Amino acid sequence: MSRAPAIRWAGPDDAEGILALNASVAHEAPEYLGQALDPVSGAEMLQAKLAAGLVGDGVLVTVTAGGVVGALTLRAHAHPAFAGVLQLGLCVAPRARREGVGLALTAAAISLSRAGGVRRLQLAVIDGNGAALSLFLKAGFAVEGRLRQAALVGGVARDVIAMGLGLASEP
Ligand SMILES: CC(C)(COP(=O)(O)OP(=O)(O)OC[C@H]1O[C@@H](n2cnc3c(N)ncnc32)[C@H](O)[C@@H]1OP(=O)(O)O)[C@@H](O)C(=O)NCCC(=O)NCCS
Repeated sequence: MSRAPAIRWAGPDDAEGILALNASVAHEAPEYLGQALDPVSGAEMLQAKLAAGLVGDGVLVTVTAGGVVGALTLRAHAHPAFAGVLQLGLCVAPRARREGVGLALTAAAISLSRAGGVRRLQLAVIDGNGAALSLFLKAGFAVEGRLRQAALVGGVARDVIAMGLGLASEP
């Protein structure tokens, strides 16, 4: 049996909880790249997106009695050349870490993506974010490259590790 709480797709009612989680993790972990979840638009925009169920704007959540403790975003690229590719972002509340929440969300995203015909998942981890690197390696992602000095974290240029997982079955 999993040690993590249940996972489901987020709906409009989860918007506030997702934003609160996102803000708390962004504040605590400068290496978290998830601010793109909702940098300026606020809860209304996120609620509208969740209500519309836009392909590629899915958010998986883990919710406990204390609120949303984990959120995994799947975002599609706009250009058709990247059809079937989703960019993954993940955060877990500090109080719920090392309980399997992040790995369970990632495993669910992989399995739902595979079932939905997604051909590839990819993500970016700031070099030095050992927790995230270890989690995604454990989930089956491979390190595919290094973008040198690509991210400014607290005003300091840091390398970005590109990770990916191919889901398309062999021809
Ligand atoms: C990275 C993060 C999502 C991990 O979530 P989590 O729910 O604590 O992770 P899990 O409990 O599922 O851990 C799964 C595995 O990941 C690795 N891991 C997780 N946290 C770790 C840590 N602090 N140090 C080393 N390895 C770690 C371990 O291999 C772990 O397996 P184990 O517990 O059996 O040793 C969480 O720390 C987080 O939200 N960090 C800030 C945001 C972030 O960095 N997001 C990812 C990049 S954008």
